[in-house]
Amino acid sequence: MKPIFPKWMNSVPTFLFIVVHSVVILVIAGFWYYATPKFFEIGYMPAQPDTGFNHQIHAGKLGLDCRYCHTNVEDSWHANVPPVATCMGCHAENKLNVEIASATDEKVQFIRDAYDQDKPIEWRNVHVVPDYANFPHDAHINAGVSCFSCHGQIQAMPVVAQVESLSMGWCLDCHRNPEKNLVPRNKVTDLFWVENEWFGKPVEERTHEGMTPEELNQTLLRNPPLHCAACHY
Ligand code: HEC
Ligand code: HEC
Ligand code: HEC
Ligand code: HEC
Ligand code: HEC
Repeated sequence: MKPIFPKWMNSVPTFLFIVVHSVVILVIAGFWYYATPKFFEIGYMPAQPDTGFNHQIHAGKLGLDCRYCHTNVEDSWHANVPPVATCMGCHAENKLNVEIASATDEKVQFIRDAYDQDKPIEWRNVHVVPDYANFPHDAHINAGVSCFSCHGQIQAMPVVAQVESLSMGWCLDCHRNPEKNLVPRNKVTDLFWVENEWFGKPVEERTHEGMTPEELNQTLLRNPPLHCAACHY
């Protein structure tokens, strides 16, 4: 008896299976690729090695200036993360007073181990712009853009998380209208002050060293670029 369906029809289910699944995978991949950077990077908070590093304690409670550790941030494009030696300045044996040291000893052992083994601590990078775009820290700091505008209230963060999208639209939003983001140059790293005494007050109530925001802007404002080659080359 002649079969109803020709033999090649046997492979149709397999063929359909592969096609349908490829489409599903493509849709997921597409969503991942296009949607992820915009929606999911805000809040990105990778786990740091061992007990980590707490900005709330060091930059908030102890009041260390950002530049104590991020030493390059106003002189270079790149904001460096400090070497182990910077931590050892306080966390080497017997450097802290006994009371604090006993409570903290165990939590900072990984610093001493790294130092003894002459190895860096593998901090996980939080903020990243792709290689094809260039971001210079020095130009922003010197123009009076506070760390607060781009990194949020770091002085209150036990663990650093990303608070802005770092997308091109975000860069350009500020470049088109930078005035409202500028703070007095010598307050750039004083994030509590910036949040409460500057952005926390209506513009007409802000003053610093006898100057109004408008007068300050005269001393600060230069020309944030909008042309492609400023950021892509
Ligand atoms: C005692 C040293 C120290 C001080 C002071 C300090 N930091 Fe940090 N900072 C670190 C270390 C170590 C890391 C890497 C570990 C981490 O991300 O928590 C880091 C990471 C960061 C990151 C995330 C970097 C990335 O990977 O994207 C930002 C942003 C940052 N610091 C901003 C600041 C700001 C703003 C201040 C001042 C208010 C400050 N830091 C003060 C040591 C310090
Ligand atoms: C200027 C001195 C100083 C420097 C520099 C410093 N620390 Fe600390 N750190 C302290 C003090 C003081 C404490 C204890 C704070 C407390 O118990 O309230 C502390 C506490 C800690 C703790 C325990 C936190 C907790 O959850 O209780 C860790 C971990 C730590 N530091 C890591 C680091 C690392 C990593 C670096 C280098 C990037 C560093 N510290 C640089 C002074 C310093
Ligand atoms: C105008 C926005 C802006 C300002 C202001 C700013 N940053 Fe950043 N920061 C960024 C961006 C964007 C990145 C990611 C850079 C990259 O991937 O090349 C970054 C990265 C970092 C990193 C990680 C560097 C690394 O490669 O591990 C640190 C640390 C940091 N910033 C600290 C600071 C400190 C401290 C201040 C204030 C003194 C500050 N930033 C001010 C936007 C800013
Ligand atoms: C909150 C405001 C703000 C944000 C956000 C911001 N910028 Fe800027 N940017 C400025 C200001 C203000 C200047 C002007 C500095 C000057 O002219 O000296 C500037 C200048 C620059 C310059 C020129 C530097 C020079 O040497 O002339 C580049 C490149 C740049 N920004 C890239 C970026 C990129 C890339 C991003 C996003 C990842 C970004 N900026 C986000 C405010 C901002
Ligand atoms: C102020 C800095 C800045 C300027 C000016 C700028 N870009 Fe970008 N651009 C960026 C950053 C930062 C990214 C990375 C965005 C991300 O990670 O999502 C980007 C991403 C892109 C992308 C990748 C696609 C995307 O949206 O993620 C393209 C294409 C692009 N830019 C083209 C341009 C062109 C064309 C111009 C001129 C009209 C331009 N850019 C001007 C900072 C800039």
